Amino acid sequence: MEDNGLSEFVKSIERETREGYSEAVIDHALNPRNMGRLEGSNGEAKFKGPCGDTMAIWIDVSDDRIRRTGFWTDGCGTAIACGSMVTELATGKTVEQAGDIGRQDVLDALGGLPPETEHCALLAATTLKLAIKEYRKR
Ligand code: FES
Repeated sequence: MEDNGLSEFVKSIERETREGYSEAVIDHALNPRNMGRLEGSNGEAKFKGPCGDTMAIWIDVSDDRIRRTGFWTDGCGTAIACGSMVTELATGKTVEQAGDIGRQDVLDALGGLPPETEHCALLAATTLKLAIKEYRKR
């Protein structure tokens, strides 16, 4: 895995003594779940957000339920936390339920984000929606 700005994120946390970041954000940024390309997926999307960073999400659906997920991003540490959380939220849900996951759900699950990084949650939620859309087209 490339650095993905993670070390800079960690440094910024140290600088700001974690100000503004919940424990969940720090946990998911430092120990991301479902990180990496998912082999054998049947839905995927790659999306570049307005900040210029990209996220990719893979889903593996069977019997209308998302069984496994994977994500990748070249974005900031917050984007890593958001990709981790959105894939966690989607795993185990029906395709329809997962399709309803939005930016606010990611924010709520992470215990909020500083306003200037909330768009990272939108990047993650949008990429998941596009992966589900691509699955439905197959
Ligand atoms: Fe681009 Fe966080 S700043 S994803």
